[in-house]
Order: sequence, then structure tokens, then C-alpha cells
Amino acid sequence: MAKIKIETEIQKDPQKRISRHIYGHFAEHLGRCFYDGFWVGDDSSIPNTRGFRNDIVEALKKLEIPNLRWPGGCFADEYHWRNGIGPKERRAKTINTHWGGVIENNHVGTHEFLDLCEQLECEPYICGNVGSGTIQEMAEWIEYLTFDDESTLSLLRRKNGRKNPWKIKYWGVGNENWGCGGNMTAEHYSDLFFRYSTFCKNFSDNKLYKIACGPTSGPPMSWITHWIEVLMIRAGLFISLIEDIYDAPIHGISLHHYTSAGLIKKGSATEFKEQDWLKIMRNALKMEDLLMNMSRVMDKYDPRKKIGIIVDEWGTWHEVEPDTNPGFLFQQNTMRDAMVASLTLDLFNRYCDRVHMANLAQTVNVLQAPILTEGDKMITTPTYHVFEMYKVHQDAFLIPMKIESEVYKRKTPAIHGSASIDENDKIHLSLCNINPNEGINVELELSEVDLKEKQISARILQGKQMNDRNTFDSPENVKPTAFPSSYFNIEANKLNFKIPFMSIIVITIEK
Ligand code: AHR
Repeated sequence: MAKIKIETEIQKDPQKRISRHIYGHFAEHLGRCFYDGFWVGDDSSIPNTRGFRNDIVEALKKLEIPNLRWPGGCFADEYHWRNGIGPKERRAKTINTHWGGVIENNHVGTHEFLDLCEQLECEPYICGNVGSGTIQEMAEWIEYLTFDDESTLSLLRRKNGRKNPWKIKYWGVGNENWGCGGNMTAEHYSDLFFRYSTFCKNFSDNKLYKIACGPTSGPPMSWITHWIEVLMIRAGLFISLIEDIYDAPIHGISLHHYTSAGLIKKGSATEFKEQDWLKIMRNALKMEDLLMNMSRVMDKYDPRKKIGIIVDEWGTWHEVEPDTNPGFLFQQNTMRDAMVASLTLDLFNRYCDRVHMANLAQTVNVLQAPILTEGDKMITTPTYHVFEMYKVHQDAFLIPMKIESEVYKRKTPAIHGSASIDENDKIHLSLCNINPNEGINVELELSEVDLKEKQISARILQGKQMNDRNTFDSPENVKPTAFPSSYFNIEANKLNFKIPFMSIIVITIEK
């Protein structure tokens, strides 16, 4: 049994607005994410617009994708933007040293990526190179992108086909600089961050939101909190400037959290036992610990929560599919991954006063991908469907929710969720039952709402087996269906129903 209470009579608090950017994505030059994924080139027989596959663009638009992070990841700290502009046949051929040592022909560069964002109608989030790039290189990239008047660099942009400057808001200053981005200490990175970001200028009327590299899960919590503290002590100097003066050097700090069944042996994406299911659920739920600890340190220096947490890499990381390049990180995606998406997005919603943005790793053919391709075929994964069902939370206001749930195993509750109310006063509740064997009776109590007066509808994503998935032969094996309203039993302000085993459900309550 699970008892859930939600406070529906609250004010819509702007501090508790669930930023749509929490539902963002990440696309790196890694494996088949761009080449043989998003990008097929404009001479391909696969339907495309200026080189990008139409089916992928259409699928992501259905998610109302709010932003896309690029070009990495680890790739970002060895990416030199000048290699990716100008006529394609003259672009440099470089080595992708992190991901399989393959040749990068730089056919997807600045203009192409920003064209993709325009096709997707989403905000670009660009990660600049601190690890192997200079301050000048980063500053000049921003000038090339955003300067309106006639400088040598803005004229070069025009020569390369783009007259008007782009609007670029989200700007990362390095990636994983404690690791692949330069193996730095917190102190060294912090010095570099504030130096680089000083020269990331707001040209014309562009306003940058500058994101510092933060910690990753894995190392001890003391290392994680130390990294944040070092940045926050310095950030404290600028906190008062952040709302009014965009020229403040810092606006967000990143966090990375990947979920695997084991550290050494990550385990197969599709062949696993219930104990691996449980391990993955418990590891995904560690996100809460990370957000709590990170917020605690940030609150000390920034009690008004002006600096955002940007979880710009999260998701499952399993062993690659058999017979695929180990450097390409290609994995299948099952109900287990969908459950991780559900648990994680609910946590982001609940911590929306601090979490401003998040990016699932990665969009196409890499890690926990919502989209997989094979030749001209494309499928959407169970994870895709969670993002589609949860898009109702984008920019809505969080509603406090208390869940008392029976335990699934090892003190881990079975039921998790979050709730929000949107601009039109529609209430949306997302809930999941991580128990893969048993349905659970739920008593949902809303404060002061007569449910008989309301319209209630729901959709469900359910697996029959833990490793249920979509394949190129069976692309609709896992997909959301309507959850019949006859399954709800309404009494005044209470809704009783059974949430099936291994399922994710989104309930809508309308006026
Ligand atoms: O998403 C794959 C890689 O994981 C990214 O390049 C890196 O930032 C992280 O370690």
C-alpha cells in the first residue's frame, strides 16, 4: 500500500517553477551520435534537411526538447572550433582520441549544430574548451557567434553563410576538468574558470549563462562537496550581481551522475537479473543524495538560490552491445532504463528550486539514448516515452507531495513520483512502481479538491519483463497506453487505484 498526499491549494511559487531545461539532452561527437546518427549529409538518400535526419528532428520536437548540449563531453576539451567552419572539403581531419580514435572530419561544426538547434526549435548549450584550448580561442568563438557589428570574426561568420549573430545563452566553461578535461584540482580549475569566464563577453544584446564544471558521482562525498565549496567561495563575491547584471562570471555549476549495475563490470543492457534491476534503481536514487549535498553547500553562500545546478550528464551506462566498437558506447534501452528516467526526472522536479537544467546522455545511439538508428531505420526507446509523458511538467509549478510507500527491497520504497500544476491549472502527477513483480494499491489524497468535479485521465508505460525493449523489428513493443478511468475509485478528495508492477503512470486532473 502507498499513501500519497499532495497540497493543491498552494500558490504558484516562482522559486518552485520546474524549468523546462530540466528536460534537456546531450549530443557529443562520440560513436554514432552525429555521424551515422543525427547527421547523414545532404547527399544521403535518407530524408534529411541540410544533412540532419528528418525523422530524428521530428521525434525530438515531439518531446519539446528545450536544449541540446554540444560538442562534448570529453570531446569538448579537445575541440578547436576553427576546424569546424568554412567549406566542408577543406575542414581539418582530426583524431577523436577519447572515443575510438576515429577520424573526425568536422563536417558537423558550429553552423551545422546551430542549424540543428533551429530545426529542433531548442536552445543550444555549447561547452567551450578549457583543457587544451586558450582563453583567446574561447573568447573569439563567442565573438564569432554573437557579435553583431563588423569585426574580422563576425565578417568571417557572414562569409561562411550566417549574416545575423546567433543568440547563445548556455555556455559551459570546460567539461570534467577533474578528469578528461585536464586532471585538475578544484583550486586550479576554479582559478581557470574565473579567468576564462571573465573573457566570455556579452556582445550585442546576447547574454551568456556561464556554467562551471562541477563534480561527478563516484568519488567520496567529501571530494564532491570540496569541489563545490571551492567554486562557491569565489562565486559568493558575485552572487549579488547574478540577477541584475548578466556580466557576473558564474551562473551555474554542473554535476554528472551515471548509473551502472557495478563499477568494474557494468553489466549487460538487456541480459540481467532482478538483483541488477535493484542495483540500478538504488544507484539512480543516489541522485537525491548528490542534489541534497550539493544544495547544502551552495545554500551556505547563495541562500537565495541564484546559482543553478546543471546536471549536464546523467543516465545509465551499461556494457556496449556485443560486436560494437567499445569506444562508441552503443547500448540498448529497456524498461529498466525507462524507470531510471522516471526516478531521475521526478527528483529533478522536486529539487527544481536549485536544478535549473539537465541533459540526458546521450540523444542518439550513445548510452541511455531516447533514439536508436540502423541504416535508414529509426526507433524510439522506452526512455523516449518517459520524456514524452513527462513533458507536461515543463515550466509548471511544483506541488509538494508526500509519499509513504511500502518497501520494494533493501529499504528502497516501491513508489516514487512528483506533481506539478501548469499555467492552465491542470495538475499532473507522475508516479512509478519500481517493483517488477507486484502491483501496489495507492490512496492519493489531494487537499481540498472534490475529485468528482474534475476530469481525470492517465497514461501508463508498463513492461511485462524487466528487459522489455523496442527493436528495429518490433519498434512498438513498449509504448504508452491509456490507463482507463474505470480503474480509479473516487471518494471526495481521494483517488484509489492500483499502480501495476514495473510501470510509470502520468495522471492529469483538470478543472
Ligand atoms: O557521455 C560520455 C562521457 O562521459 C562524456 O564525454 C564525459 O563527459 C563523461 O565522462
